Amino acid sequence: STDPLVLGIETSCDETGVGIVRGRTLLANAIASSMDEHARYGGVVPEVAARAHLEAMTPTIERALTDAGVALEELDAIAVTSGPGLAGALMVGVSAAKALAVALDKPLYAVNHLVGHVGADLLHGDGLRGAVGAVGELELPTIALLVSGGHTSLLLVRDLVSDVEMLGETIDDAAGEAFDKVARLLGLPYPGGPEIDRVAATGDPHAIRFPRGLTLPKDLERHRYDFSFSGLKTSVARWVEKRVAAGESVPVADVAASFREAVADVLLTKAVAACRDLGVPRLLLGGGVVANARVRELATERAATAGIELRVPPLSLCTDNGAMIASLGAQLVAGGHEPSGLSFGADSTLPV
Ligand code: KG4
Ligand code: ZN
Repeated sequence: STDPLVLGIETSCDETGVGIVRGRTLLANAIASSMDEHARYGGVVPEVAARAHLEAMTPTIERALTDAGVALEELDAIAVTSGPGLAGALMVGVSAAKALAVALDKPLYAVNHLVGHVGADLLHGDGLRGAVGAVGELELPTIALLVSGGHTSLLLVRDLVSDVEMLGETIDDAAGEAFDKVARLLGLPYPGGPEIDRVAATGDPHAIRFPRGLTLPKDLERHRYDFSFSGLKTSVARWVEKRVAAGESVPVADVAASFREAVADVLLTKAVAACRDLGVPRLLLGGGVVANARVRELATERAATAGIELRVPPLSLCTDNGAMIASLGAQLVAGGHEPSGLSFGADSTLPV
């Protein structure tokens, strides 16, 4: 085949991801996560993440090569996340990618993490864990809603390589971060997202009306597509404190369900508004929060009502991974783009 064989490295947060693709075909998606090491801190500790990446890098590269049945020498290019993300964590991936590129004399491509999430939707193939289902080709333009513990962004993607516009992002906490913090104050373990999701299943989502950040008319002028979850988190904390102070029990399931509803509502309201405003009949979801049952359900409902095509890659490609970075790298190679050279660095605030 003439499709480029690309290895992608992702280390922007707590997942060491190494993926291998041939064009749009997924060959390997090896992941090592340091999540367990962050659990006792209730959130990702940058220094701990960086050290864990360093330890996991070589074994994860080796695992990806084995899974793909590929030798390093066969690779056509290396791609790596250069930002945005945690600076120290990014540096480990960037350094590893540069070392590989130099040692193998292969072209190196620096890739944006957020655009990588969109690139995940190009991939197809059996996958290693049978996770990749057959989906029709991604058509452009698309709106992309990317929601994880580290980012909450709304993108307008006209061209994956040359035309990606950031419509909005969180002005404080990421949505996943809000899940983690609210879980903590409800006494649920880290990571909080799956826990809240589980507990919320038996709660009443309309028990408590928590605020929807940045959705008031006055907010919409400047922050139409931006998100804010810190006020919501505070509101949940105050509500719980009041109950405790009054000597009443806290209805954890109702709080979890009502909080989850507020997050899902605001995410989908803004994403669907972007599709409508900009005349884009397509919405792509990415990031770990896509695992949330209510987010998925509401996305399905709202997209159907608005006549929007909803695209949700398999979860193993929604959470941070190296395959999505390799996928974008393959697009760059196939499009004849210049490699990035070796002088770029990790950029924690890299724009799209
Ligand atoms: O994409 P991801 O694996 O990468 C990082 O941000 O590191 O996302 C992890 C985030 C965490 O904040 C976690 O609590 C959240 O995604 N998450 C969820 C669910 N599963 C994971 N949030 C809500 N509901 C879930 N089911
Ligand atoms: Zn991500």
